[in-house]
Amino acid sequence: MDTFTPPKNVSKICCIGAGYVGGPTMAVIADNCPDLKVTIVDVNKERIDAWNSKNLKNLPVFEPGLENIIERTRGKNLFFSSNVHYEIQIADIIFLCVNTPTKSNGLGAGKASDLKWIEICAREISTYAKGNTIVVEKSTVPVKTAEVLKNILNTKSNDKFFSVLSNPEFLAEGSAINDLQNPDRVLIGGEDQNSIKILSQIYSKWVDKNKIITTNVWSSELSKLSANAFLAQRISSINSISAICEKTGADIKEVSKSIGTDKRIGEKFLRSGPGFGGSCFQKDLLNLIYLCDFYNLPEVSQYWEGVIQINNWQKQRISRLVVEKLFGTLNGKKIAILGFAFKANTNDTRESPSIFICNDLLEEGANLHIHDPQVQETQIIQEFKDHSFNNPNKEGYGSWEFSKDIDKVIKDANAAIIVTEWDEYSSINWQEKEKIMSKPSWLFDTRLVSNSKSLEKTNITYWRLGNKINEDKNY
Ligand code: UDX
Ligand code: UDX
Repeated sequence: MDTFTPPKNVSKICCIGAGYVGGPTMAVIADNCPDLKVTIVDVNKERIDAWNSKNLKNLPVFEPGLENIIERTRGKNLFFSSNVHYEIQIADIIFLCVNTPTKSNGLGAGKASDLKWIEICAREISTYAKGNTIVVEKSTVPVKTAEVLKNILNTKSNDKFFSVLSNPEFLAEGSAINDLQNPDRVLIGGEDQNSIKILSQIYSKWVDKNKIITTNVWSSELSKLSANAFLAQRISSINSISAICEKTGADIKEVSKSIGTDKRIGEKFLRSGPGFGGSCFQKDLLNLIYLCDFYNLPEVSQYWEGVIQINNWQKQRISRLVVEKLFGTLNGKKIAILGFAFKANTNDTRESPSIFICNDLLEEGANLHIHDPQVQETQIIQEFKDHSFNNPNKEGYGSWEFSKDIDKVIKDANAAIIVTEWDEYSSINWQEKEKIMSKPSWLFDTRLVSNSKSLEKTNITYWRLGNKINEDKNY
């Protein structure tokens, strides 16, 4: 590290990974730093072509506000390219935004992150980079990954030098542009103070200097895992309370509101729902658990394991309730699934509760009609495949189809289940929908977004998560 002299005039940034993190993050950097040339590269050529597509509706990532930024910056100082080696070669700073999924086999399977892609990228950087390069680890990684990176980077030759920084991402999908534009903090961990200064200067173009926190590299990596673990823990906590509400007659929204007014607790992240999804929470919890096991801290490991257990239980108890309320069998019954994305305002389906709830219902022989305003049918096929779900050959396994037309999925359905909190689901007029549903009709609202006034005027029996069920309907 003593030998590292940072690049003098930082003008070129390369980001490896044009996904949900790389795309929006680099777009916001390019937008705020017109003097920098930012190029995002990806081994997936189709993805790069989609980012370059003329029609902004075809961008591979849907994020409110993203299209406008791409329109302003693309072709000016933001570029998308498949020429990975060349862009590595000319870059002063390289961001790593590649995926780090949970390992499916080998040591640490099911818990540890697979660093395969990070390692491949590190080898490519060490081969193709020229001179002194700052490498920024943005992908969520296990603690001590920077060390691995440094070791790989510094093996090749003695005429190139690298400084590794950890700069974890805290953006939430659906609000990524706002989170990037107005972050609570920017965290930069590293050893080389000059490199830290260079990265801080880039962020300070639009972020208040007081919000830029610098730490050692391990604190930075662990802070990211801990932040996500704390957020996930809040959701499991409130979801555990939702089950007590349903038994006692308390209302989860009222409880959340009351708890949240305590400044020590705060109002955010207390929305009870079908369980957390997304690419980060479960993966980061598993990483933390793996770390605890590795350092022989079984009590700590079990504590965080409980957060995942409650999350799985929440998803399962919803599907069990649906089966129970529909007289114990779903064979041949049509069920409308409203929402497949893991949260509203994104087309991302990774670890979405909908995947698991759908599979449970398919196992019961249901005939699912799935709707989502942003998700494509191919994503659903891929999710079921990735989870080894949707086995049409299995006896009694149901069937599913997808439509972008809400009326079509609800028509003749015995029940509708709201799984994602899309705006269009809160404005559904249930008095109208009742006319086209099969009788007796059910609505299961796992996100508390349905219009209860409209529902009260119907004969639809509805269940709202964290509320006692109202079954006094006359048919
Ligand atoms: C990913 C991780 O999931 C997250 O934990 C981390 O914090 C940031 O990176 P995301 O951007 O959402 O987040 O992932 P994804 O949308 O899958 O994008 C990763 C991209 O990297 C893919 O387009 C993939 O093709 C690309 N990639 C992967 C490369 O270009 N080169 C590689 O060697 C590996
Ligand atoms: C999360 C972190 O928020 C972000 O800082 C990190 O960089 C990546 O992981 P993300 O997964 O994109 O972001 O979305 P988030 O808004 O955190 O939601 C995650 C899941 O929790 C979603 O399934 C969401 O529906 C659920 N959730 C969130 C709740 O059930 N209740 C809440 O109150 C908040």
